[in-house]
Amino acid sequence: MFPTPAGPSVPSSAVLCGLGGRLPSRAVTNAHLARRLDTDDTWIRTRTGIRRRYVVDPGQATSDLAVEAGRRALASAGVDRVDAVVVATTTPDRPCPATAPAVAARLGQPGAAAYDVGAVCTGFVYGLASSAGLIAAGVAERVLLIGADTYSTIVDPLDRANAIIFGDGAGAVVLRAGRPDEPGAVGHFDLGSDGAHEDLITVAAGGSRQRSRPGEPGREERHFAMRGREVYRHAVTRMAASARATLSGAGWTTDDVDHFVPHQANLRILHSVADALALPRERCVTHVESVGNTGAASIPLALADAARAGTLRPGHRLLLTAFGGGLTWGSCLLTWPELPRPERITP
Ligand code: COA
Repeated sequence: MFPTPAGPSVPSSAVLCGLGGRLPSRAVTNAHLARRLDTDDTWIRTRTGIRRRYVVDPGQATSDLAVEAGRRALASAGVDRVDAVVVATTTPDRPCPATAPAVAARLGQPGAAAYDVGAVCTGFVYGLASSAGLIAAGVAERVLLIGADTYSTIVDPLDRANAIIFGDGAGAVVLRAGRPDEPGAVGHFDLGSDGAHEDLITVAAGGSRQRSRPGEPGREERHFAMRGREVYRHAVTRMAASARATLSGAGWTTDDVDHFVPHQANLRILHSVADALALPRERCVTHVESVGNTGAASIPLALADAARAGTLRPGHRLLLTAFGGGLTWGSCLLTWPELPRPERITP
């Protein structure tokens, strides 16, 4: 805990001051998938843009990647201690307890508040809003937010529609209390959901609705399921609407956006959203081609990749937009701060 500052109250904004990401070491190319599935490189590239993804080894869990990404973000921020650790994930190490306390302990953060955010692929943006809330409420002065997912642990390896899309990874940021006009201040959020379409993206078993029962649940009930075509349509319209709502809330137009950093769902979706916003595609940051859809990790991994490449420079104005199961969606704006060059996210 930190003392409440004396004097006239200045709203405390969350300011991004550290960034890091980590992919697991095993690369899976489209050619690898074509050896075990009825698919081919051309089909995958034309439908999704994806050429490669990375997956964890047997025994490696979401927290293992989260710890690596978290360590890099703390080093980038030059801080040893944070007041809270938030992990956005759909693939926690276990249904109970949350993954964040174990991650906090392994990162040497005893006593820090620690909890998970479950908003599927929108988890990182929901996590940003939640972390900004902790800072604004005076609960924390510094927060480590990690988006981490290992979809390879829940996707049926024989399901060609989903196995081609998802990859594993973790990305992390450190947020500190600061002023709303500082570079790095996150703000102008738009968050939303539509649970009427909860059945478009699901893992049926393992929760209170479909309870454990004697005997194994069927394979399809334990695995991730997605109605791809409908998800595609929702992803484009919801992401475009959320981006527009955020821009208009801030009084920005698309001309004010130097880089659009969307959740890396699939290249066609990202280009369609950019087109719907009348944003030139060159301003859309993409790395889904080389890592696949990494769930809640995708935005911070895309930021780390683009910052390392020198694409993001201090003062650039960013629009982050995500979409995922729930359905959920969200956007936020930020002006890129001065940061050390992130380490390479690939192994
Ligand atoms: N290789 C070859 N053929 C495949 C295939 C694969 N990997 N996966 C599916 N197919 C087949 C289907 O079986 C179907 O065959 P049929 O016509 O004989 O029945 C055909 O391709 C068309 O399937 P469909 O699901 O309609 O294809 P699509 O053009 O919609 O592409 C997705 C499928 C999954 C790539 C696409 O729907 C998509 O990208 N959806 C959004 C997914 C996403 O990004 N989700 C994340 C949101 S956070």
